[in-house]
Amino acid sequence: MDKRHVTVLGIESSCDETAVAILRAPWSRGTNEPPELLSSVISSQIPLHRVHGGVVPELASRNHSRMLPLLIREACSEAKIGIREIDAFAATAGPGLASSLLVGNTTAKALALAAGKPFLAVNHLEGHLLSPFISEPDGTPPHLGLVVSGGHTLFIDVRGFGEYTLMGRSLDDAVGEAFDKVGKMLGLPYPGGPEIEKASQGGNPAAFDFPRAMIREKHANVSFSGLKTAVLYTLPKLTANGNPADLSPLQLSDICSSFQQAIIDVLVSKLKYCQERTGHGTIAISGGVACNKTLRTALEKLCAERGLSLKLSPPGISTDNAAMIAYVGMEKFRKGDIHSLGEDVDPNLPLAGTLNRTKGGLAPAPGKPS
Ligand code: KG4
Ligand code: ZN
Repeated sequence: MDKRHVTVLGIESSCDETAVAILRAPWSRGTNEPPELLSSVISSQIPLHRVHGGVVPELASRNHSRMLPLLIREACSEAKIGIREIDAFAATAGPGLASSLLVGNTTAKALALAAGKPFLAVNHLEGHLLSPFISEPDGTPPHLGLVVSGGHTLFIDVRGFGEYTLMGRSLDDAVGEAFDKVGKMLGLPYPGGPEIEKASQGGNPAAFDFPRAMIREKHANVSFSGLKTAVLYTLPKLTANGNPADLSPLQLSDICSSFQQAIIDVLVSKLKYCQERTGHGTIAISGGVACNKTLRTALEKLCAERGLSLKLSPPGISTDNAAMIAYVGMEKFRKGDIHSLGEDVDPNLPLAGTLNRTKGGLAPAPGKPS
């Protein structure tokens, strides 16, 4: 074994993507050598769930079981590595769908047991949060992190690896969830996020004055349920019976563009608030919604205006993937933070307090200034 490096295999199966990745990094810092992603394979179940308008848990877990052995073989072959050369096996332990988490988690534990190597339980949100730094030789710098995924909207003060304080979150729908629900309302295919982005092109972001809840309040919590309802109430005003199929292409573009802009305005405003509170010089954005180009442009503008550095997850590592799981696993392994094979999955695993091993703070009370 090459003792100067550590090679970690990561498995992600928390929702509707089955993914495996192999990451190699130097054992110790200070070599100026970034981690190398040897392989990252993802099998998306989106087409399977699209006909149902959302994720069906039973279908998801069955498909994870079917795909995982194939993906592990594919990841090893792409990385040109044998399973015996892996130093540790990491898997998502939560949050996510219990039956889906169990498939990846149990697989990683079985591999670890058979190979006599350590098992590393990883928080999916920590994976997203740190994914913008996956190619950095120096690990996680202090920064302000925004995780915008299908299940979470989190503003996090990051002081280093494992040191997180939650500054704010969504009090109802996560940003991705709001995109998906509004997409469904507008008759767009699942998932709604990329579809709304596509439909918004050429639309007027000021065509509809949709609500921006709590935008001026001095805290970092957000709410998108009022925005969702406002879109719902707009439909009957534009069509005879509220049927989205009767919207003209321009009306659809205007609704999508205005909805997207309302979300971006809220996120930018709360990022400004958090940045002023923490004084961080770096903002990092992760999670599926971070793929949104209009959001990215707005964040680039914010950072340019304030002289801040913006870190975005590399392409392919914003939506669910196993590279981010292998990366957090690798950081834990280097710190000797190994987990027992008896450690269970947790569908509601919080980020601050990951498996009770972080020093992070707790969520502020809903609606209260953080
Ligand atoms: O991080 P992710 O892959 O899975 C979760 O952990 O939830 O995020 C999926 C979410 C979905 O809600 C999807 O609609 C949203 O990310 N999404 C987008 C875009 N691409 C994916 N939302 C807005 N614009 C996009 N381009
Ligand atoms: Zn995710």
